[in-house]
Amino acid sequence: DKAGHKHFMAKEVAEQPAVIGDALGHYLSADGRDVVLPGTTLDFNRIERLTMVACGTAYYACLTAKYWFEQLAGLPVDVDIASEFRYREPPITPGTAALFVSQSGETADTLAALRYCRDKADTILSVVNVDESSIARESDLALPILAGPEIGVASTKGFTCQLTVLLLLAIKAAQVRGTMDEEAVADLLSHLRGLPAAISQALEMDEALQQAARHLSEHDHALFLGRGLMFPMALEGALKLKEISYIHAEAYASGELKHGPIALIDKKMPVVIMAPRDALFDKTVSNMQEVMARGGKVMLITDRAGAAVADEGTWHLLVMPEVDPVLTPLLYAIPAQLLAYHTAVAKGTDVDQPRNLAKSVTVE
Ligand code: F6R
Repeated sequence: DKAGHKHFMAKEVAEQPAVIGDALGHYLSADGRDVVLPGTTLDFNRIERLTMVACGTAYYACLTAKYWFEQLAGLPVDVDIASEFRYREPPITPGTAALFVSQSGETADTLAALRYCRDKADTILSVVNVDESSIARESDLALPILAGPEIGVASTKGFTCQLTVLLLLAIKAAQVRGTMDEEAVADLLSHLRGLPAAISQALEMDEALQQAARHLSEHDHALFLGRGLMFPMALEGALKLKEISYIHAEAYASGELKHGPIALIDKKMPVVIMAPRDALFDKTVSNMQEVMARGGKVMLITDRAGAAVADEGTWHLLVMPEVDPVLTPLLYAIPAQLLAYHTAVAKGTDVDQPRNLAKSVTVE
């Protein structure tokens, strides 16, 4: 049941404020000032290193969480693609917690990576949507993301619910390891509780995104750029776009632009830049100017403060609500999804069942 939407993907994108709210309700204490995890198997004081493994969009959730675990909790993090990890057979040092992220909980490579870690890691954690899945069952602690069934092949609410649970886990780690004090935790959690409302606001940009997508759909290629927490969002935006609209899209960390991809820039190359006005904003703006100086068409996704100083010469300017800098990935996932969605709709491709793709990849 698409609940009045044209596609399951549209329905699942629209559900995000509600399901993220559900996940927050599940993991926050009644007073909203503490993260409560089930069980007692996980002790972030004992853990020296976190190894995160996943595929596709779930891998981008892990890349995002690396910034959170490192910056909030001072915990060293490795992130790996499951199909690489399982055959490289990396050494797992004592004190390593291995964390597997999977919407379906049945992805063959991710499951094989988990089994490789079984007798080597201190503890096996998973972040899953399907409670009774293989990955959940074989973990010491499985944390549900509570997104509800995801039917569209392209992951949307699964991704943002993964991000929500991973952020809560990073906040818990920071609290236990003493890198964030009680007030800082309570403050960040209170911003997090305001996030569903900010996402609802971002969803209202649908019309502006639809117009931008119509123009994007006339191109064969696109680049996505982002720095820091926006780098994984650029990767996610490019994956969503190629998956459902079949437009060739690549993402780079903004700082990599001059190390190669800048050679691709000409007037036929749309460049989607995601950049809230945070500590890295000025650096990204200078990358944007390099793109524009070479005739590239810039679609800038930023907030009001960013738009106020960097709107000149853009092809499309999309203005997002302002949120705490830690929370920006959860918000900027929305335009990444909607841009891909509307581009696919403009091109008339099969949004919910893109060619060659399966919802659950249970074979290698
Ligand atoms: C992209 C997408 C895929 C999955 C990947 C992992 O939109 O849906 O990249 O994220 O196949 O799937 P799970 O999370 O089920 O392990």
